[in-house]
Amino acid sequence: MPVEPLTPALRRRLVLAARRAVRTSYSPYSKFKVGAAILTDTGRVFTGCNVENASYGLCNCAERTAIFSAVAAGERRLRAVVVYTPTPEATMPCGACRQVINEFGPEAVVLSVCDGQERLETVLPALLPVAFGPQDLGIREQEPRVPRRRRSPA
Ligand code: THU
Repeated sequence: MPVEPLTPALRRRLVLAARRAVRTSYSPYSKFKVGAAILTDTGRVFTGCNVENASYGLCNCAERTAIFSAVAAGERRLRAVVVYTPTPEATMPCGACRQVINEFGPEAVVLSVCDGQERLETVLPALLPVAFGPQDLGIREQEPRVPRRRRSPA
């Protein structure tokens, strides 16, 4: 399923959301704050920040925090991932995040913004070519989104 191009309004919304998300970054060890915002195929936006741990290997990146929130909310398909760092230069998602993006957004647009002028934009296949993914385990169809439950009237 080809990914629809992002409109300038959507882009602005995602960048703003990623910039807001960095406020809750828990990064006392690296002091490197990251905020992320993702757009799903249903048009919902989810955000996340990096969450570190005294046991360093357990640190979770902002991108994965946002993606896992979306999946926990029933979403299964990503259109775009936006990363914000309050740094002079933009940074792209790490290898682990690229693999997680591939699971839910193999064609996702990836945009990185920062406090400087630099803006990096690409698509996931350029960041993770010839990816190992669901197809290698015999899964050809993306899992459908889990429908949202309607609130029952009080
Ligand atoms: N980090 C992210 O949150 N996203 C990235 O794309 C790169 C790295 C976090 C992990 C860790 O908390 C800190 O940045 C330094 O690596």
